[in-house]
Amino acid sequence: MGEYKIRFEREGKEFLAAEGMTILEAMIAAGLEPNAPCGGAGKCGKCKVKIPGGVVLACQAKIHSDLTVDTGVDAKEKAKILMDGVFRPVDFKPGDLPEGSEHPLLAAVDLGSTSIVCYLHDGKDGRQLGVKSTLNPQRQYGGDVVMRASYAMEKGASVLSSCVRESIDRLLAELAAECGYKEEDIARVVMVGNSCMHHLFLEIPTDTLVLAPYNPKVLDPVTMPASEAGLHVNPAAELNWLSNIGGFVGADTVGCILAADMDQLEELTLMVDIGTNGEMVLGDRRGMTACSTAAGPAFEGAKITCGMRGGEGAIDHVWVEDGKLGYHVIGDGEPVGICGSGLLDAAAGLLELDLLEESGRLEETYYFTEKVFINQKDVRELQLAKAAIAAGIQMLCDSKGIPVSDIRQLLLAGAFGNYLDPHSACAIGLLPPELEERIIPVGNAAGAGAQIAVLNEEERARSARMASAVEFVELANDPGFQDVYVDKLMFGDEE
Ligand code: FES
Repeated sequence: MGEYKIRFEREGKEFLAAEGMTILEAMIAAGLEPNAPCGGAGKCGKCKVKIPGGVVLACQAKIHSDLTVDTGVDAKEKAKILMDGVFRPVDFKPGDLPEGSEHPLLAAVDLGSTSIVCYLHDGKDGRQLGVKSTLNPQRQYGGDVVMRASYAMEKGASVLSSCVRESIDRLLAELAAECGYKEEDIARVVMVGNSCMHHLFLEIPTDTLVLAPYNPKVLDPVTMPASEAGLHVNPAAELNWLSNIGGFVGADTVGCILAADMDQLEELTLMVDIGTNGEMVLGDRRGMTACSTAAGPAFEGAKITCGMRGGEGAIDHVWVEDGKLGYHVIGDGEPVGICGSGLLDAAAGLLELDLLEESGRLEETYYFTEKVFINQKDVRELQLAKAAIAAGIQMLCDSKGIPVSDIRQLLLAGAFGNYLDPHSACAIGLLPPELEERIIPVGNAAGAGAQIAVLNEEERARSARMASAVEFVELANDPGFQDVYVDKLMFGDEE
């Protein structure tokens, strides 16, 4: 079998690829961390690269000769990653830390399916020293958690686990260095992430997550030596994963409810984290109920013809102006695509202009520019995603036997929740219109919760009690879900 020299122009890297390997496989092996939302199935069209013969899908093009590859066909998506979250002050009581460092540090890690954020705190007084983030390298094995969990079931979890462990290790080392310390000074690491991220990181089989009964194998908090996870921190440092709740509702949601003090709230509160999975918790000091729904990757731009993540060149904000749609582009240049928040605004604007019917029928493809547009298929994808979230909210209210209007505040967690326009989200019925005035974006609440847990051992213990007190509703088993979902496919305030 021959070997061929592949030159990645932009990255200035060369790689020796075996005959018949796909360009995507070569990119992964060369450490380029390409974006492959459909996991290389040839369906999403997001892995385009330029080779001397023209533009091809990297996941479909096989290597049979030496090649120069330009990975920058679509403007490179320099993703914005949300790092801040509502952070309530807590007493500094981290618990016992191992000896070995003159200046111990504490780290909190939010392992999201799209991005990883690390926070570093001073182990002597709790001060935040720095924050650093990167995209999750598992993206190259699939855009959503189900694809990655399926990949792990077929080919084993070790590739997915080791790439993410290495990324976190690198991030912690860089962050510590930027703050003037060493990675070995880190004396404790607390981690959060959804249950799939949790299982993949810990190399726990994911079969029960993607197949019935759709439940994590491990719910309790996990404590292990951080060195066993390949982290080059203090060799005696502990790594603590917060608990999982059920289904895909994992330690990240526990971080959110901890940050929001949800078990103490007097007012009935809904916490929603919208991503490829929508995770939501409804409750207050009298009790909490949670569920998750599969929204798919539409809000992250995947499966949308001109969709992209919220980075340079993305239309991120759209409004009605003189009978048509005005728009804003990140970086203020020519638009190259549209991201989730732009898509939501655009649908709301098209509804207002009567170019989009409540049934979801789009009169005709709407062009922002010659190259960037929204078509009927995109609208259908958006409908599926928004119906999943809206139905989840409805089901939670039904399970408590209360009308949606009883909810006093809606806390929107996560990156998408932070960037979307609440008015558009309500106009298309993604979020309940009656709650528009009660929406509070809380940023990266999961990350805030992880920091609270690393700073205070009582909060860490409390997070486990909170998690086991949350009642989990599995929507896949609920015969009523399908009907509610179909109802919520309509745009607008259909009630
Ligand atoms: S089309 Fe190649 S990764 Fe989706």
